Formats: sequence, structure tokens, C-alpha cells
Amino acid sequence: MKKKFLNLDKQPLANSFLPSSDSKTLSKEFFYNLSISFDTINYLVSVTDPVNPKSQYTDKYAHRASESLTMRKAFSKIANKLEKKYSPKIVMEIGSNDGVFIKNFSKKKVIAVEPCRNLANLTKQKFKTYPDFWSKKLAKKIFKKSRKADIIFSANTISHIPNLKETFEAIEFSLSDNGVMIIEDPSLLSVIKNNSYDQFYDEHVYVFSALAISNAVEKYNLRLFDVEKTDTHGGSMRHYICKKHASYRTTIRLKSVINEEKKMKLNKFTTFKKFSKRVKESRKKLLQIFKKLKLSNKKIISYGATYKSTTVFNYCKINQRYIDYVTDTTLNKQGKFTPGQHIPILSPEKGMNSSVDYAFLGAWNFKKEIFKKEKDFIRRGGKFITHVPKVKILPK
Ligand code: TMP
Repeated sequence: MKKKFLNLDKQPLANSFLPSSDSKTLSKEFFYNLSISFDTINYLVSVTDPVNPKSQYTDKYAHRASESLTMRKAFSKIANKLEKKYSPKIVMEIGSNDGVFIKNFSKKKVIAVEPCRNLANLTKQKFKTYPDFWSKKLAKKIFKKSRKADIIFSANTISHIPNLKETFEAIEFSLSDNGVMIIEDPSLLSVIKNNSYDQFYDEHVYVFSALAISNAVEKYNLRLFDVEKTDTHGGSMRHYICKKHASYRTTIRLKSVINEEKKMKLNKFTTFKKFSKRVKESRKKLLQIFKKLKLSNKKIISYGATYKSTTVFNYCKINQRYIDYVTDTTLNKQGKFTPGQHIPILSPEKGMNSSVDYAFLGAWNFKKEIFKKEKDFIRRGGKFITHVPKVKILPK
């Protein structure tokens, strides 16, 4: 039974950066109510009323996974590891974005699936790309001629698809008998530990625990046999799944993560009620900091026009009253305005100048990379504000 535990108020689509802030553009902006629920039977945490994926994954999709050095390195590392360990003949990726993972394999063996046309167009010149949503119909089309996939990889995509039944049935159909599916998504364990409520936005229909994934795949002749924690996106989990009768043994790593999740009570509704209280507290403290800094005339900007910051800004009602502008390295975000609160986005070259006193870490998941890059800002006394895992100013 689904029970609501968190209300993040009226939100725009996290990815819907606006080309202009004129009244005509603003009048067309789409909003929905973002609330989060816990299913007390299968332990799935999900957006209570998901938005239709057709309105989210369009040819305007802004995110390019390759733009981050952290992600390029992480995907190349896991691709090499999978190649060595499983020597796959066919590798398929669901949600291939700009090819950052799958380009690490030999062109001959790869199949990419990517519903955003602008992204699919980027990769289709280089390797086989299906510009479509993942479905049973598509799986049947792909594997009519091809042999089944030995590796199916999907990072930050399965959690975006509301219909898990269709998703896993299509995966079961597409996987070779001893094939392995790897699902990588932000982990519920990290969200609860870090109080990172901004992992909840329209695209993250689910935030998975190993407990929930295990329950979910069992219904479709599949089995979770291993997990791997990663640092990406502020704490993710790779779930390794095979067919029920494949040869892979349940690993000690999986047993220990399941134990940790049970210890953290990720199978109890009360855990999420307590989390919801901490989220409200976090909003209060963040606004206190912003108000205090503004009273002493400090210039605050935001670093990284992330989807996560869409949730924070719209939940906390943070707009140009507090933040002059946002900087972001992504070319197609620059010159636009943040969804809902309409803060202008500039390139770091323009925005990260000596007039900035504080930068809110919208891209807190890239903290290490950013602190390295912004040594000069820190050296001259510039500070970052973060809300994860606690609201504070960095460096101390
Ligand atoms: P993500 O957390 O959704 O991957 O988005 C990260 C955003 O932050 C992306 O738009 C790029 C931006 N970014 C910067 O502007 N500067 C940086 O140094 C890093 C690492 C990311």
C-alpha cells in the first residue's frame, strides 16, 4: 500500500530551463504537485503521481552526461570492468544519453536505446541507436535479428520509467541466459543518510533500495545477485541482476547492503516520516543562512544548474531575492532561466568572478571536482553553501 510521506510542493519539470523570462514564456510553464510515497508492501519509494514521460524526454533534453569529467571517468571504468569480467558479445544500454558509457565498447557489439531525439542523433552516426522509449515492443524489434544481450546497462534511467512491469519483462526477454543487467541509480540509502531530498524530482520516479529492487525483479523471472556502491550522483548503487536460474551466486556485498538497509529501517514507514521532518528543518536552516547573508549585502550565486536544485529552489522558494544568477558549464543551459524560480544562468567564465562572495552548491554531488577547480575562489575567501548532508558553509 502506497503511503505519502513528503510533500515538495508545486514544482516545474526539473529539466525545463526557460529560453526567456518574459510573461508569455512564463505563462506557459508547466507545474505539478511533487509528493513522495512509500509502498509498505514492496518497499518502493516513488513519486506519488508521476508526470507523463513523453513530456519529459523530448528533443530539448538538456543533460549531457559526457560534460562531467567525474562521469566520463566513472563510466569508462565500469565499462572496462564489465568487458574484462564478462567478455560480452552484445552490450545494450537503455538511456544511452550522449554515449558516455557505451562508446567504451567495440562499435560492432553495441546497441543504444535513447528516447531523446537530440541525444540519439548524436550517437546514431557512431553506433546502432534506437531513438525510442524502452518497451516490450522495442525489445522484440531489436532482438528479432540480433542475438540476446550479455550485458544490459542502464544508468539513471530505470528509476525514470513509471512502468516497472513493462520494463522488467522487456529486460527479461532481451537478456541472454547467463547475461547480466546492471541498473545504476541514486540510492535510497544515500538519500536518507545525506538528507538529499533534492534527489526527488519528476524524472526520479523511483529512488531504489536493494530491498525494493530485489522484490521488484523477482516477479519477472529475474534475480538480484550483487550490488556495488558508487559515489556518482551523490551516492548511487549498481544493482546486478540475472535470470532466476543463471549461475551467479548471491554475493556477500549484497547480503551486507540488505542488512544495512534493514538496520536503517528502509522497510519501515516511520523512517520516511522522520526523514520528512528533517527535510523541513533543512529548508528552514537554508533560508536562515540566505537571509542572514543578504542582510550583510553578500553576493550569492549558485554553482551548477542541476535538476536537483530545481527541487531545492522551488521547495524553499529561492529566487533572485537571494541568488543573483546560476553558473553552469553546459552550453545549452547558458543564457536560459531556471525552471520555476527563473534565475538567469551564465557561463562560469562570466559568472565566477571576484564579486562573488558565496556560491550555493547546486551540483553538490561534484563537490570534489568543483573544489579542485575553484581553488582561486576559495583562496580569496569565497565560500560555498551546501544543504547536504547538513546545511553549512564550506570551507569552514
Ligand atoms: P547533474 O548533477 O544533474 O549531473 O548536473 C550537474 C550540472 O552541474 C551540469 O549541468 C553541469 C554543472 N557543472 C558545472 O557547472 N560545473 C562543474 O564544475 C560541474 C562538475 C558541473
